[in-house]
Amino acid sequence: MPASPAPAATDDGLPAGRTATVTAVGHFLPERCLTNADLEGMVDTSDEWIQKRTGIRERRILRDPEKATSYMATRAAEELLDKRGLAAEELDAIVVGTVTPDMFYPSTACLVQDELGATGAFGYDVSAACSGFLYALGAGAGHVASGQCEKVLVIGADKMSSIVDYTDRSTCILFGDGAGAVLLEPSRDGHGLRDMHQRVDGSEWENLCQPGGGSRQPPTHQSLDRRDHFLKQNGRPVFKQAVQRMAEASLTVMQRNDLTPEDVDYLVPHQANRRIIEATAHQMGLPLEKAMMNIGEYGNTTAATLPLCLHDWEADLRKGDRLILTTFGGGYTWGAGLLTWAYDGTEGHAAGEQEEASAGR
Ligand code: UT7
Repeated sequence: MPASPAPAATDDGLPAGRTATVTAVGHFLPERCLTNADLEGMVDTSDEWIQKRTGIRERRILRDPEKATSYMATRAAEELLDKRGLAAEELDAIVVGTVTPDMFYPSTACLVQDELGATGAFGYDVSAACSGFLYALGAGAGHVASGQCEKVLVIGADKMSSIVDYTDRSTCILFGDGAGAVLLEPSRDGHGLRDMHQRVDGSEWENLCQPGGGSRQPPTHQSLDRRDHFLKQNGRPVFKQAVQRMAEASLTVMQRNDLTPEDVDYLVPHQANRRIIEATAHQMGLPLEKAMMNIGEYGNTTAATLPLCLHDWEADLRKGDRLILTTFGGGYTWGAGLLTWAYDGTEGHAAGEQEEASAGR
């Protein structure tokens, strides 16, 4: 699905249609750090095994039981608004990717809207597991590209510690808590979300799921005894599919945009396992240095991995950089998007100025 209407080319070869571009990034990470050494004291595992098999050294955990996903999402949004110099009232929409909403309903987006005071916004959550942010980005970009919205807040946030079983060594070592956010605004010089390829395949849903608590298996004493309200994963098939699908989706986006590996400045991959990222980059023909990787510090934060990468690399990004974002998660859900970056460094980007400049060209 092209993210914007069929574009006419401008002098610089970029499409002239209305695209949605990222104009600011925000993030939130809880202070409490859960190290591999801490986990050694909780389950039968070792720092050596975890680092060798996953690349993870530590992860952040939101310990305060009073605080949930909306708390982290709101902090990330506040940082972003502050950087961009915007009031919350100026937001038109809030789209939150998460599988750990504060509650089934109202959506996390409603709670973020209220806490921010975003009185002019509508909003909703996107449930696509680890692909939640990418799917939310596609939806948010659609609201901007169609002309419906001028300012859309897209958030990826998960309190994975609320659904991780800390007696299951095969999953509890993987996940952490966190939130990241981007602001989407219209751009007329072609920078922004240029392409998006998304797929789901529900035929192997049992390999990665949280079976209890929904309408199929409402919570009962028995379901609690079976620990069905925790995340379950069959790691090996998920690993294999993750590499295959992320590489496939990324190559699809590269091919239909005539991009060689040299044309791609950064790979922004979902952070599930260092070995998955290495294999994906290899299959795309990219050197590993082009892959953003912070899994060592945060683990797998599910919907937050992509925006946390954008936050951590924001200072290095330059206007015009071509980023391939790619994810794979429970469902299965997966996809890849092409995003050209719209500003230099951490200053944020004045989309209005960009539009005026391109209009006067
Ligand atoms: O974000 C959503 C998508 N999720 C993913 O992409 C995750 C994909 N899967 C993975 O990253 C990997 O499959 C894991 C990291 C989850 C597991 O790594 P693996 O290399 O696939 O290990 P495995 O499940 O095949 O297990 C190998 C051995 C087993 O022991 P035996 O049966 O060979 O004696 C496990 O019991 O490692 C054992 N093991 C552990 N040992 C120490 C599993 N977990 C641990 C552990 N510490 N934490």
